[in-house]
Amino acid sequence: MCGIVGYIGYRDTVPVLLNGLRRLEYRGYDSAGIAVWNEQQIDVRKAQGRLANLESLIEVSPVEATIGIGHTRWATHGKPSHINSHPHTDVHRTFSIVHNGIIENYLQLKDELTAKGYVFVSETDTEVISHLLADCYTESVFDAVQKATKRMRGAFALAVLSIYEPDRLYAVRYASPLIVGIGVGEQFIASDIPAILEYTRDVIILNDGEVAILTRDGVEVRTFEGQAVDCNLLKVDWDVSTAEKGGYEHFMLKEIHEQPSALRKTLTGRIETDYHRIKLDDLGMKVNDVKNIERIHIVACGTAFHAGLIGKTVLERLLRVPVQTEIASEYRYANPIITANTLVIVVSQSGETADTLAALREAKRQGANVLAITNVVGSSVAREADHVFLTWAGPEIAVASTKAYTTQLLGFYLISLYFAQLRGALSSIQIGDYIAALQQIPDQVEHILESFESFISYAKQLNEKNNLFFIGRGTDYGVCLEGSLKLKEISYIHSEAYAAGELKHGTLALIEEGTPVVALLTQDDLFEKTLSNIKEVKARGANVLAIANADHASLRDASDAQFFIPQTNALFHAITAVIPMQLIAYYAAWLKGHDVDKPRNLAKSVTVE
Ligand code: M6R
Repeated sequence: MCGIVGYIGYRDTVPVLLNGLRRLEYRGYDSAGIAVWNEQQIDVRKAQGRLANLESLIEVSPVEATIGIGHTRWATHGKPSHINSHPHTDVHRTFSIVHNGIIENYLQLKDELTAKGYVFVSETDTEVISHLLADCYTESVFDAVQKATKRMRGAFALAVLSIYEPDRLYAVRYASPLIVGIGVGEQFIASDIPAILEYTRDVIILNDGEVAILTRDGVEVRTFEGQAVDCNLLKVDWDVSTAEKGGYEHFMLKEIHEQPSALRKTLTGRIETDYHRIKLDDLGMKVNDVKNIERIHIVACGTAFHAGLIGKTVLERLLRVPVQTEIASEYRYANPIITANTLVIVVSQSGETADTLAALREAKRQGANVLAITNVVGSSVAREADHVFLTWAGPEIAVASTKAYTTQLLGFYLISLYFAQLRGALSSIQIGDYIAALQQIPDQVEHILESFESFISYAKQLNEKNNLFFIGRGTDYGVCLEGSLKLKEISYIHSEAYAAGELKHGTLALIEEGTPVVALLTQDDLFEKTLSNIKEVKARGANVLAIANADHASLRDASDAQFFIPQTNALFHAITAVIPMQLIAYYAAWLKGHDVDKPRNLAKSVTVE
């Protein structure tokens, strides 16, 4: 989730690139850079940190050109640093490129290119592309792009500038969005429409496997195989702020809908389907350390804590090791019992939450081995933990966490299976079955999102309500806690999440005629039990929405409305089950006219105690 921009035309390219990057800064902000052809050579400027740092650098060291590319980075491979920032070039600066996506086979390509004498300076997967293009170049840049793309696996959106054709830019798309903007005597490349709206509203959306060749006079699109493509021109009538949100009214809704692609990214490169294996060797955990784990503490705040509750169940079921999930602000003062073979897993989207960081430090002080699950490369948590699992969800802008949560869950599934694999707790056939189920999850989420309208109608019913209950058992209870937090956080409707069996120990007193109850039933072994809890609340007048993994006549009889999520392994339902709850929360807040992305009193990253 970085931002790409490219320009060829008659204007001074630097302000055009910087304007475009400013519009894309929400997509990545740990470094930024530009590369231009200054009529003699490719000139590169890059700076770590916010775009303002790059702007200051250019003020001190200006450059002029009418063709160039730019990038704002959200680190995946390699920490945020000057050296890892884009654009990347080959040693002789014959090619310069910016890249969004992940090159899965970059290590293999790096080895091959290093053996041929290419010298790498960064830790990124992207740098291999610039060397690969240089290596593939014989007669034309298009030919080099064709050869290089045949070698690359993964996802890539590229803007390419080369000294061999200094009056052309190339835009290359595979599994990562890229558009071309059409002007008069000028053309643009961007990863997102807002970057170029100031200059043109005529856009070509590239498809996977297409290359656009931009000159000042026009744009030609070809497939990777070289066939000419007849493109449709799209007229964009959005304003800039709508465009930043991809046409969605709020970042939260955009991020909810980004979950299928975010989940696919989390899986990328981490599964060897042919061998029924989970590939998480980049965690850097020694096999013996994993085998010796005797207990696990999961520590986090808020939504990340809720992900940890599900993580506990999954780790315990698969490994039969005791796991406790703790709120970071409690853990740090609780003098936790940490033994030599305790693994502490800290979970934090931002990697900067003060309590989580303090808990991590306390765990390390007591000698624990710490594994972090985080979304932000180079964050404090990522830097201080011994091992890091990156969720690769891309920047999450809305305060209410959505894609961070589901990718954290997926992280727990992958880590649990990986540990089970190393400890021999599951056979490769069993792991293969789990993998097959995991791979279906992004499509299942996509399928649920198609039904978003049902949740608008449900949210309308909540408009006059001041109280709501979420009930479930097992992992469903954990998901209910997250559903309840989401609703409170942005709609300001009070809600409680209850372990369904616990209601009759007090809370049932609060159920009265018309009280809305959302009941979650995705665990077959607990279905009958939760069903009887639904009957208890129905008998007191509750209005029940049941969210379940299978259609049962008994459930239809007992509840007022039902929503069915796709069937998968019981442990994995948490990801799909939370989607209806996110949509309910979003639409309830939206109908009330709240500032959904910035709820009152809350901040995205809580860096104070
Ligand atoms: O960045 P972190 O994951 O460490 O943040 C932890 C919580 O502050 C966060 O999950 C919070 O609960 C969410 N905004 C809720 O949607």
